[in-house]
Amino acid sequence: MINERAWAKGLHWVNNHMIPEGLRKELEARIKQADHPRECAVDVMYTVQKHYGYLSDEAVQEVASLLGMTPLEVDELATFYDFIYREPVGKFVIHLCDGVVCWMFGEESLMNYLCRKLGVKVGERSADGLFTVLPTACIGYCDYAPAMLVNGIPYGPLTPEKIDEILDQLRIEEPEPVIDR
Ligand code: FES
Repeated sequence: MINERAWAKGLHWVNNHMIPEGLRKELEARIKQADHPRECAVDVMYTVQKHYGYLSDEAVQEVASLLGMTPLEVDELATFYDFIYREPVGKFVIHLCDGVVCWMFGEESLMNYLCRKLGVKVGERSADGLFTVLPTACIGYCDYAPAMLVNGIPYGPLTPEKIDEILDQLRIEEPEPVIDR
């Protein structure tokens, strides 16, 4: 069972030793159904990330052992995907689209604005543990460019004022402090 509660509370890295037995069994069952374990690599990485909050080196090793791959192979795959995180991230992961259309509509200045506003560099977690900003390829929301995803939810067209509203709203939704990990 995925630790949804820990995810929701931002307690992403709840156990840095082992994938819990239940989750391991669930993943093994999924892998068993595939023709080739590697077919499940992204699904397994994503599920393990959802449990822990990011794919640490230990998690990479565990995923590799589940899939019969080397940790290097898993790492290479993980770093290829924008939505797999190899470093701890905030509770809200903001993926600002840097596709051509969004870029034409001012993505670069919005990225600077977001980073300045949150006091972070791209990929860093904000001091309150709530936010991480990352670039991503086109999210299919070009009609609403410039656009971003926050934990998978699309927003656009963005302006600095709209971004302020969204950040304020996210903070209100989750007023509890995030426990450091
Ligand atoms: S280019 Fe940004 S949503 Fe398509």
